[in-house]
Amino acid sequence: MLILGIESSCDETGAAIIKDGRYLLSNVVASQAEIHDRYGGVVPEVASRQQLTTIIPVLETALDQAGCGWENIDAIAATYGPGLAGSLLVGLTVGKAVAMAYNLPFLGVNHLEAHIYANWLRGRIEGASNESEHSDWEYQEGDPIFPSMCLVISGAHSELVLVRGHGQYELLGRTRDDAAGEAFDKVARILGLSYPGGPAIQKAAQHAQEELEQQGKPATQALNAFRLPRSWLRGTYDFSFSGLKTAVLHLAEGAVSEQNVHHTRSSENAGKQVSQYTRMGLRAAQRGGANVELLAASFQEAVVDVLAVKTRLAAQEYHVKQVVLAGGVAANVSLRARLERELRPLNIPLKYPAIEFCTDNAAMIASAAFFHLLRGEQHGLDLDVEPGLSLPFSKK
Ligand code: KG4
Ligand code: ZN
Repeated sequence: MLILGIESSCDETGAAIIKDGRYLLSNVVASQAEIHDRYGGVVPEVASRQQLTTIIPVLETALDQAGCGWENIDAIAATYGPGLAGSLLVGLTVGKAVAMAYNLPFLGVNHLEAHIYANWLRGRIEGASNESEHSDWEYQEGDPIFPSMCLVISGAHSELVLVRGHGQYELLGRTRDDAAGEAFDKVARILGLSYPGGPAIQKAAQHAQEELEQQGKPATQALNAFRLPRSWLRGTYDFSFSGLKTAVLHLAEGAVSEQNVHHTRSSENAGKQVSQYTRMGLRAAQRGGANVELLAASFQEAVVDVLAVKTRLAAQEYHVKQVVLAGGVAANVSLRARLERELRPLNIPLKYPAIEFCTDNAAMIASAAFFHLLRGEQHGLDLDVEPGLSLPFSKK
């Protein structure tokens, strides 16, 4: 079965053609990151206008790259929430329009669920044949295994979800304030790093560690060069990142006292220097700011610490067969490595999507749609956007 997926929930425009929910014929993503970098974050009005100009070329490219015509497509799927209303409207409307024009089944997809389904995606295959090679679609070698503990971490969500089967979600914990990705983005902005913040902070942190290694010091010194707070919220699986963000802000503004800084040679006077960078306009700090990099590394470590430990605890308590990462922050290499280390002694495998499927893309939309269509579900063309949509949680 070939599904054309469309994604337009925020600042990425995506179209993809996926076979049997897993195999890629094409996956096209047009990112607006460069445009929003100027503002340090997504400007909704700009995002939706940009979606409008990009959607048709992206759709045509996806068909071209797959070597497909409309006659090969079996169903259309588009994100209907959560996300920015204006951006969602563009992809959903185009999706419904082509479904009507070509008389194809249509399915609206929950963007968060699609992030989870990114874990079903495999590599590329050639050829537009929509004949399925598998008679049994229930489970294929390499698919995620249920029950799994899924950490959904994106720009707007941070949730620990017990996944018992296809479409069976139990919410165990969520962020009480900022989402993990949002914290990365806001801290990057504070430090004068580029948007989106996650990759920029990861890069700065890696650089800080390489520098220390070159000086013959343990790279791990970078991870606690600054003593940053962790909100453990013990007894719950909830998260909180706003205190951490504020701590970075205070350091960056120079509200740093001696005891906040561990005296590794390279982090001496770190607070003072960061404060100068703040006044200079922090973007300049990126060029010469070793201490900005140390602060980025310490911040990333604080986020990774909490996410990894709480996920491991939940995985232990619920005796899951696998831990699964989903969402843009799942691209973070430190998080992946740390979780592997946490889970290894417990013999719980960790699964995460390839980097290109972690951040917003349409391949994951088509994958999620496939499993709904298998269950005989589809939507009418009166489906509207739902900017505040959450995962369809069942009661515990
Ligand atoms: O899932 P996503 O593409 O969009 C939403 O649905 O929100 O996630 C975007 C978020 C951004 O906050 C971005 O900074 C973060 O994912 N992100 C990362 C990394 N790559 C993207 N965060 C940490 N490390 C990364 N390598
Ligand atoms: Zn997303």
